Amino acid sequence: MNDKQICDVNNWLYSDVVKDHFLSPRNILLDESNYEADGIGIVGSPACGDMMVVWIKIDKDKKNIYECKWRTFGCASAIASTSMMSTMVLENDGMEISKAKHITPEAIIDRLGGLPDRKYHCSVLGHLALREAIKDYEENYGRK
Ligand code: FES
Repeated sequence: MNDKQICDVNNWLYSDVVKDHFLSPRNILLDESNYEADGIGIVGSPACGDMMVVWIKIDKDKKNIYECKWRTFGCASAIASTSMMSTMVLENDGMEISKAKHITPEAIIDRLGGLPDRKYHCSVLGHLALREAIKDYEENYGRK
């Protein structure tokens, strides 16, 4: 297997779920200039140098995340993983902050129907940026 095979959309080695989230990413934010988030998280991957940004909006009473936007300059795996992560966060009227802090790459990969082992580092970017965004929110609004 080489990089061309992994990235060739006519020769997918990814699951249908990964393909779907890569081709139709959920909750992506292309222009944040007029977007007011409660928390912003930015991380870079030491493995490949790609970047990920996550923006969240929090219901201050319920302590849940009701919007989870993101953008990356990463690969198909990073796009699909973060799209799935944002979907998971927004299910059932939004995940509580305390629960969202503990989303794991394994849970995301599981929902995607798997990822090639060498793409694991791409799947961590979304949840790490989410944790940073939650941290930013807590610093902005206090841990109540
Ligand atoms: S190779 Fe950089 S995020 Fe996947």
